[in-house]
Amino acid sequence: MSYDIVIRGGTVVTAGDTFCADVGIRGETIAAIGVDLDGDRVLDATGRLVLPGGIDSHCHVEQLEGDGSVHEESFASAARSAFAGGTTTLIPFAPQFKGQPIGAHAAEYAARAARSPIDYALHQIITDPTEAVLRGELPGIIAGGVRSLKMFLTYDPFHVTDAEYLKVLAVAKRLGATVCVHCENYEAIRWRSAALLRAGRPEPASHALSRPKVVEREATHRAIALAELVDQPIHIFHVSCAEVAEEIARAQARGVKVTGETCPQYLVLTAVEMARAGREGAKFMCSPSPREAGDAEGLWAAIRAGTLDIISSDHCGYSYEGPNGKAINGETADFTRIPNGVPGLAARMAITFSEGVAKGRITANAFVALTATTPAKRFGLYGRKGSIAPGFDADLVIWDAGRAVTLTNALMQHAIDYTPYEGLEVTGWPLMTLARGRVVMEDGRVTVPEGQGRFVAAELSPDARPRGLVPGGFDAALVD
Ligand code: URP
Ligand code: ZN
Ligand code: ZN
Repeated sequence: MSYDIVIRGGTVVTAGDTFCADVGIRGETIAAIGVDLDGDRVLDATGRLVLPGGIDSHCHVEQLEGDGSVHEESFASAARSAFAGGTTTLIPFAPQFKGQPIGAHAAEYAARAARSPIDYALHQIITDPTEAVLRGELPGIIAGGVRSLKMFLTYDPFHVTDAEYLKVLAVAKRLGATVCVHCENYEAIRWRSAALLRAGRPEPASHALSRPKVVEREATHRAIALAELVDQPIHIFHVSCAEVAEEIARAQARGVKVTGETCPQYLVLTAVEMARAGREGAKFMCSPSPREAGDAEGLWAAIRAGTLDIISSDHCGYSYEGPNGKAINGETADFTRIPNGVPGLAARMAITFSEGVAKGRITANAFVALTATTPAKRFGLYGRKGSIAPGFDADLVIWDAGRAVTLTNALMQHAIDYTPYEGLEVTGWPLMTLARGRVVMEDGRVTVPEGQGRFVAAELSPDARPRGLVPGGFDAALVD
C-alpha cells in the first residue's frame, strides 16, 4: 500500500507518546502510522521530531478595531508567519462593537477570513450583550461552529460590566460555548493611568505601572467567582504571572472548571523593555504587562502543575513605524493611546520549545500538549486537529530539536516591521510544515495559496460542559 507522502524515520511526538515511526499521508489526512511505509514522495525525518502542527488559539488577524483601523497582519501574511514557525491552525477573533449588533461586521470579517491560506476557527468577541445579541444572534453563531466567546473586563471600547459578564455566562451555559476572559480591573487601570498622566509620566514604561499584578489578580478572582456562581466553565487568557495562576489553581482545587493560558511574552520579556529610550518601549507594550525577571519561573511552575495548559501568541499586528500601528495616534501619543499587543505567530513554538524543552523545564510531550493538543481540545477541534493519528488532518511539522537560531524580524515572515524577540537565542526550529498534506514551508521557504485555508467549525468542548453544581441548587441561568 502506497501513500501520497511518507514522513520517514522521524521520532513522532504526541501529547502522550514518543516513538519512532513513519507517517503515511493520503490526500489531506494522516492515513497510517507504521514502519517501512512507501510513498510517492518521501520526506526524510531521520534524527528529527515529527510534531502535530501548532494551533495558535489566541491571535488577532486582520481584526477591525473600535477606531476603524484594521490590524496590519492579514490572513495571508499571518499564514506565512504561522507556517514559518510550525503553526497550521489559527483561532483569531471576529469583532463586535458597542451599540452595534455582531452582524454589523460579520459578513466583512467572514469575507476576509475566506481568503485565508491557513485553516482557522473563530472566537466571537462580545462587547455589547444586548437582548438582541444574546437571543437573536448568538444561537446562530454558536450553532454555526463559533463556540468560544471573548469578553474583556477592561479596555475602553470593549469592557463589559459584571452584570453583562453574568448575562453572557448564562447564555453560554444554555447554548454550549467556551467563555474566554481578559482579566484586568477597568476602574483601577483608569485611576492609575489618570494619576500617571497627571504626574507627567506619559512614556511607554507607565503602561506597566498602570496595571500591576494585583489589577490582573483581582479581575481573575472576580471572573472565576462569577463563573462559579453561574456554573459556566471559563478560560483565562494571557496569564502574566504566578500570582494570577494561583487564583486559577485555588479554584481548580475546589473543582471549578477554569483553565488558563500564558504567552511567550510573559516567559521571555519583562517590563524593563518598556523603559527603552523614546517610544521604543511601545514595541513591548501588551496587556497584561510583561512583569519582572523571575516571574517566568513561576509561570513554568504553573505550567508543570497543569494550572496553565495552553501557550498562545496573542499575536497583534501593529507595526512600530508608520501611521497604522503603534503610532496610530501619533508618535508622541501617551501610553494610554498606544495600541496594546505584540506580534508572535512565528516565534511561539520556537520560544516555547527552547525555554521549555531545551532548558529541561518540560517534556517534548508537554510542549505538544501546550501548543497543539490542548488548544484543539479546549476549542472543539480535536479529532481533526491537534494530534498525529489516522483520520486527523495531515498538519505536521518536522522539527530540528538541536538547531540554534537567533530570532530576527526577517525570520518571522510577518507583515510587521519588528519582533519584540529580536536577538533572542533559541534552540529548536521547524524545518518543514505540512498543512492538510501540502508542504507549506520547507527550510524557511513558505507557500501560501490564498483561500486554501478552511474554516473549522468547533464542536462543544468537554471542557465547556458545566459541572451541574449551582449555589443552593437554584440555577438562575436556566430562568428565561
Ligand atoms: O495587549 C494585548 N493583549 N492586546 C490584544 C488584545 C487582547 O487583550 O488580547
Ligand atoms: Zn485580552
Ligand atoms: Zn488577544
